Amino acid sequence: MGDRNIDALLSEQRRYPPPPEFADANAGPGFYEQDPDAFWEREGRERVDWFTPFSTLREWTPPYAKWYLGGKLNACYNCVDRHVEAGAGDKVAFHWEGEPVGDRLAVTYADLQRRVVRFANTLKKIGVGRGTNVAIYLGMVPDLPVAMLACARLGAPHTVVFGGFSADSLASRINDMGCQVLITQDASWRRGRPLPLKPVADEAMTNAPGVRRCLVVRRTEVDTPMTAGRDLWYHEASAHVDDDAANCPCEPMDAEDPLFLMYTSGTTAKPKGIVHTTGGYLVGVATTHHYVFDIKQSTVYWCAADIGWITGHSYIVYGPLCNGVTSVLYEGTPDFPDKDRWWDIVERYGVTVLYTAPTAIRTHMKWGPEFARRHDLSSIRLLGSVGEPINPEAWVWYRTHIGGGRAPVVDTWWQTETGMILISPLPGVSTLKPGSAGRPFIGVTPSVVDDHGYPVTPGEGGFLVLREPWPAMLRGIHGDPSRYLATYWSRFPGDYLVGDGARVDDDGDYWLLGRIDDVMNVSGHRISTVEVESALVDDPTVAEAAVCARPDELTGQAIVAYVTLKGGRDGSRQAVATLRQHVAEKIGRLAMPANIVFTPELPKTRSGKIMRRLLRDIAEEGTLGDTTTLADPSVVEEIRTRAAAAA
Ligand code: WT7
Repeated sequence: MGDRNIDALLSEQRRYPPPPEFADANAGPGFYEQDPDAFWEREGRERVDWFTPFSTLREWTPPYAKWYLGGKLNACYNCVDRHVEAGAGDKVAFHWEGEPVGDRLAVTYADLQRRVVRFANTLKKIGVGRGTNVAIYLGMVPDLPVAMLACARLGAPHTVVFGGFSADSLASRINDMGCQVLITQDASWRRGRPLPLKPVADEAMTNAPGVRRCLVVRRTEVDTPMTAGRDLWYHEASAHVDDDAANCPCEPMDAEDPLFLMYTSGTTAKPKGIVHTTGGYLVGVATTHHYVFDIKQSTVYWCAADIGWITGHSYIVYGPLCNGVTSVLYEGTPDFPDKDRWWDIVERYGVTVLYTAPTAIRTHMKWGPEFARRHDLSSIRLLGSVGEPINPEAWVWYRTHIGGGRAPVVDTWWQTETGMILISPLPGVSTLKPGSAGRPFIGVTPSVVDDHGYPVTPGEGGFLVLREPWPAMLRGIHGDPSRYLATYWSRFPGDYLVGDGARVDDDGDYWLLGRIDDVMNVSGHRISTVEVESALVDDPTVAEAAVCARPDELTGQAIVAYVTLKGGRDGSRQAVATLRQHVAEKIGRLAMPANIVFTPELPKTRSGKIMRRLLRDIAEEGTLGDTTTLADPSVVEEIRTRAAAAA
């Protein structure tokens, strides 16, 4: 986040007390006075159904936590079957809206159960059972949540890989997790055109020989290569498969059995497989969803994220379905066929809660409020934000133009690792401050510390750390316990290092200040500088590369790459295009640098370390830091000139 935004946060004085319509909110006055253990004990018993009740609330052997020990449950049963058994089979689980206009489907809880059972039985036919790892590479089609729930029903851990990731990224995740089955689709709709996914999956499978079977969901009519003996069309494989839930029981899982892995970027080139388990995760996401979004029987909830990220797992699939809510699931982009598509959806389904990212809000802001004005948005009663710090200007625009000047905006802070929202205002309790994520949720004990791990005084910035465990906390990094310790627990022993800077004000409200490590946040997507650098140096023409982020009005941050070509060659316009394409192929389009600056040399210290801080300063067009340790100070001027030319 740029300095300008931090200044805006520091001087923000606007206050919005809870509106009278929230007098009967799920969380009212006194909410924070509850005893955390009693709270999580009660939520654990009441919010989910257990096949065997848990005997111990939690066990904390830092840095490993266990929750709801001894309990047996199934996430799919809680998200689907129990609602049908309770008589809510006719309630809409999700209104699915395809990207092509008019392509829509209402899926009730009873429909969802039949779809999930059919999917689970099809998976069984190809040998998936308890403990079989499954990779899912699908766009936002109904089969995505269905496939996840089918895996959960069978006790098969899944990893969903966002459709924007490349074949290499997909293969490395499949290999790291040891997936035997891959579920994908022919192509997904993207701004009116089919974007092929199966060919990417094919390329991934050539480097992931562990995949025995590939199930392919048909979404478009594009020609799709199929490999005999390995690939199966889902509609064919499932054609005569039983969809009666009575014949496909939900596997009783231990509270601590893994539910899924979600890969996320860290400070090295290799993404981390974050492990989430069944009991604590489900209780954590369903509970926070209920209180933060003030979920009622009548709520029509829309989290406009992609299920391929943790936001979608926790707050499109597991949290909302566990709470039996009606949701919207949208396949496409916000500007297809026109820039009012989201508002058309809000009006059509009477959305009452909308949850999105600051980058999307800023995009709508740029397009102008007239697109929202074309529609009746009066159904909206609550708005949410997630993914990056929200600048007060975007916050106020969101409340004014989307929330009718009435709807509270809850800025929810959390991470892939935390699994659930940890810091957020509560609409019936909190006085809102644009740009602040409010207070820690019950039982969450953050602290802001200095370089030495001592708490800073209120108002000062520092490193955000977390002390006590929470139910949906990660249970480690798949296959790499030492990386788990090194990444989160070594800087300040005993505390979980978040990786964000933060400040607490006199009221105890948190203001998030952006990442403090080599992780960038582009449009709410987490990208590692090192990962992009290694993709660049993988190109045969590149000698060296250094990557950093600069502030960007729309995407929050944008990627700037400084590249030295082999043989001291100068970069051409063509070289820029080739390198960007190379990064797209190695990682995915989301990691493509916005700017590439070719430079004959990178600034280094005398010991040969690249001076990233300096490059960041140049990228931010700010003042230069101390350059006295630089081996050759003239490099800086050179880069500066070239950066200005490349911008
Ligand atoms: C990082 C986590 C949480 C799901 C989406 C991203 C940033 C997230 C906020 C917020 C300020 C935020 C942090 C965090 N972040 N939400 N409300 N205010 N920053 O999940 O990919 O794991 O990224 O996103 O930097 O560490 P993720």
